[in-house]
Amino acid sequence: MSADILPTYTPKLFEHAVEVAVGLLKAGRVVALPTETVYGLAANALDADAVTRIFAIKGRPPSNPIIVHVSSPSMARDCAASWPRLADRLGDAFWPGPLTLVVPKSPGIPDIVSAGGSTVGVRWPQHPFMQAVIRACGFPLAAPSANLSNRLSPTTAQHVASQLGDQIPLIVDGGDCNVGIESTVVDVTGSSPRILRPGMISSDAILATCSCGDADAVRDSSSVAGPLRSPGLLEKHYSPRAKLRTLKWRDEASLLAALQSAGIPPHRAFVLAHSHIPLGDHFQQVNVIPHDPEAFARGLYAELHRCDESGAEWVIVEAPPDSSDWAGIADRLHRASAS
Ligand code: TXA
Ligand code: MG
Repeated sequence: MSADILPTYTPKLFEHAVEVAVGLLKAGRVVALPTETVYGLAANALDADAVTRIFAIKGRPPSNPIIVHVSSPSMARDCAASWPRLADRLGDAFWPGPLTLVVPKSPGIPDIVSAGGSTVGVRWPQHPFMQAVIRACGFPLAAPSANLSNRLSPTTAQHVASQLGDQIPLIVDGGDCNVGIESTVVDVTGSSPRILRPGMISSDAILATCSCGDADAVRDSSSVAGPLRSPGLLEKHYSPRAKLRTLKWRDEASLLAALQSAGIPPHRAFVLAHSHIPLGDHFQQVNVIPHDPEAFARGLYAELHRCDESGAEWVIVEAPPDSSDWAGIADRLHRASAS
């Protein structure tokens, strides 16, 4: 099988792609669709067999639950056994958008979606194509990122095609993802929000919305026995094939010195810089991503995919600032560098 890649850049093409995607999803098939964060590998969330296919295609461990995507607050509530007050607040503030709320699971959501757990992650995405498809289907869509398990998430239709193009019938091209890293995942089943996966909706924004003290909302990094609390917290995740290091440097000389002491040959290093830009001479390549968290997140995965395509052995990323608006980016870089 080789996936059809359908464009959406005119209203007619958009409508046609919606029709094709909805036909396949109603038939229990798995298709890749654009969202504003990263591309998703979608299936009918109410159809356990269809969701089983997602796990098979990704090589995803059955212990890792999948996010359910909806197109309205009422559809979100239908996925939940009860709707916590915190979910109301955060949903009102940030939906549609890059936020996933973990709530008590409705019995109508098959157990495979939640990896057997009693909660389900629900997200109302912002991307117009994803919204149109969910509305036309009339059922929620289970969709993890459209990459092989533990590999880099796709932010273009081409990224999906190169990892999964021979396994699915359809990839809808909705353009480059506007956010660029995966949603912030927040558990709202308790009395205070717990951030399970940082993202571009920052902990500061979440705390301000919930008007609660930060002590309550520290990221959950506890290791819990049994079903994984949030398997996205596994150390090794979101990785390019190249080895990745995050380093700080002042200038080219200090970068060269840092590489030397880490035993990394500069000419094998693909450097991603945002503030202190070295000249290209000593390195395999030097690329610049803007020093702005939104722009950096939007460009990061595309740069890492490019590194992999170039066969780079090392990716050296200039360390991001240590502030809440960069926390989602710092988290992904940290995971990508875990070995
Ligand atoms: O932006 C996103 O969230 C993208 C797009 C496609 O929506 N999706 C995505 O899905 O990143 P995935 O499967 O690659 O990552 C979902 C993360 C995983 O870390 C998973 O463990 C966690 O969310 N998760 C899902 N349901 C959960 C639940 N009920 N409890 C705790 N963690 C959950
Ligand atoms: Mg993923």
